[in-house]
Amino acid sequence: MNNRLILGTANFGLEYGIANKKKLGEDVVHSILEKAYEMGVTTLDTASAYGDAENVIGSFFRTKGKCFQVITKLPTHDYRNPSDVKRDIDTSLSNMYIDSIDYLLLHSYGTYEEYGNIVLPVLNEYKEEGIIGNFGISVYHPYELNNVVDRGHGISAVEVPINLFDRRFVSNDHLSSLINKNIRVFARSVFLQGLFFMDDLKLAGFFNPVKGRIKRIRELSEIYQIAIESMAISFVLSHSVDGIVLGVDSVEQLEKNISYLDNLSVKNLSGLKDDIESLEVQDESIILPYKWQID
Ligand SMILES: NC(=O)c1ccc[n+]([C@@H]2O[C@H](COP(=O)([O-])OP(=O)(O)OC[C@H]3O[C@@H](n4cnc5c(N)ncnc54)[C@H](OP(=O)(O)O)[C@@H]3O)[C@@H](O)[C@H]2O)c1
Repeated sequence: MNNRLILGTANFGLEYGIANKKKLGEDVVHSILEKAYEMGVTTLDTASAYGDAENVIGSFFRTKGKCFQVITKLPTHDYRNPSDVKRDIDTSLSNMYIDSIDYLLLHSYGTYEEYGNIVLPVLNEYKEEGIIGNFGISVYHPYELNNVVDRGHGISAVEVPINLFDRRFVSNDHLSSLINKNIRVFARSVFLQGLFFMDDLKLAGFFNPVKGRIKRIRELSEIYQIAIESMAISFVLSHSVDGIVLGVDSVEQLEKNISYLDNLSVKNLSGLKDDIESLEVQDESIILPYKWQID
């Protein structure tokens, strides 16, 4: 089961997360990577836009070798010529002390729309040379996914947000059409940056529209004796995804999440079905963290 867990790394290089908004120290990161490897996690999700996360991973790989598959992301940039694209990919390779990237994703749809004709040929070239194993895109909106997938371009991986609130990518058979096209699906924001664990009484006013639902998640957890982590993870894995990207702040959180993954049975959710349905949120200002207006 662990091989479907992808370790998120934004907080390896940035102050990240709604509850603790902290950047982890290199020693903590290395202990998390050590434990993750030991417990069978096979893949890391990173990006050059995550501060020095790639470098911190690189210092781990320098002593341990490349012991994880790597998903990294091309930064948002005005790619007017192919050499800029190669420069940024080469920078990620040297940051992480690796000579190949398993999954190279565009970090923004804007890069695809504006510079796809410059960027995609380079990705295909680097794929032929074995520098990139697969390439694709990380998106926020279903229309972005449809546009990219419909036009093909040889992409073989996408990263999308899916969670108890955000059902946009699991409705309308989005995912099954991807599976049929042999495109791997990585789900992120499984805990909506940790919002599901927060005490609704301590939440900023911005979240008033969903305080009832966050309270309901905790109630359901008590009524059905199922941990919030397990509920959140089960929901996402009840859909056809190849991997779930989870961020953690500590070795303890990692071990906890892996134990829930190991003891998951989606049937857990059967009694909860209607309750889970009622948790859906349409309001994009809530389900898209980049739209949050909180201090
Ligand atoms: N555009 C993109 O491509 C994009 C966008 C966002 C994220 N990502 C990727 O996804 C990763 C995860 O980010 P996310 O926003 O999706 O976060 P998430 O996985 O939904 O939530 C992670 C946060 O949940 C809390 N948490 C995790 N396990 C917990 C547990 N067992 N008990 C209590 N709290 C727990 C931690 O925050 P606290 O302890 O602080 O509460 C942790 O930082 C990032 O590191 C990044 O790799 C990619």
